[in-house]
Amino acid sequence: MQLFTTIASLRSYLCNDLRDRKSIALVPTMGALHVGHLSLIDRARTENDCVIVSIFVNPLQFGAGEDFDKYPRTLDGDRQICENAEVEAIFVPSASEMGLSKAKATYNMTQVMPPPEMVNVLCGRSRIDHFQGVATIVTKLLNIVQPDRAYFGCKDGQQLAVIRQVVNDLNLPVEIIGCPTIRESSGLAYSSRNQYLSASDRILAAHIYQSLLCARQKILDSDEICATSQVIATARNYLDKFPTINLEYIELVDAKTLQPCAQPEASLMLAIAARIGNTRLIDNISIIF
Ligand code: PAF
Repeated sequence: MQLFTTIASLRSYLCNDLRDRKSIALVPTMGALHVGHLSLIDRARTENDCVIVSIFVNPLQFGAGEDFDKYPRTLDGDRQICENAEVEAIFVPSASEMGLSKAKATYNMTQVMPPPEMVNVLCGRSRIDHFQGVATIVTKLLNIVQPDRAYFGCKDGQQLAVIRQVVNDLNLPVEIIGCPTIRESSGLAYSSRNQYLSASDRILAAHIYQSLLCARQKILDSDEICATSQVIATARNYLDKFPTINLEYIELVDAKTLQPCAQPEASLMLAIAARIGNTRLIDNISIIF
């Protein structure tokens, strides 16, 4: 497996000769790879000839006071995981290689601004500029690698919807593949931020997913179409039993547009964000009526 730290060296590896013969997949990550990432890599492996994993903790997507400094950086382990998963190459650029130099503390650079109605909702309410930072770095990575397909987890449901919109709006020639959320046996979704949780926090955190299942069951059990407010109230009532889970939001939105819906529609996402101590966790499930 190759490791590239510069755009020029990666580009020369992905020369036209290789492109002509092989389909190329990109799995963008911020490292601290876990079983969820591995499922993206495995899927990419089965659908493409060549898999590139990027590892870059993107400062643009962290707000002031967020966990940029303490975000886990585990390059040696990540490298091993990629090697074992038969990844062809990992791309590990520095911030300056990505055009984000410390001298530009305000990141005075061109940025990709997704539609405000998609980034000012759900996580975007508390994470101002987060999705602009994600959209900018993902667009740069797609332009650098020019993959045939790029793989993202459905756990970050808002991120996936935003990236699909950006790719569509900017006519980027890549297929975006959303992969199912991978969960621990308790139901807790794998996340690099789970490392911040104590053993007892982890047990508690599993109730976030249970609250979503409980709300979905409410829909399945109802003879009539149940209102959005009833669905959300069901999840809220479930979580009320766990006062140390601080709910930030729980919303039922259209999975593609992320707009709230008063009445159930075809393809919805029940999305949640909650804090346990200082750790912010997100999850979602899809609801098809
Ligand atoms: O989901 C992530 O790990 C990041 O948001 C991504 C897509 C790699 C962009 O930095």
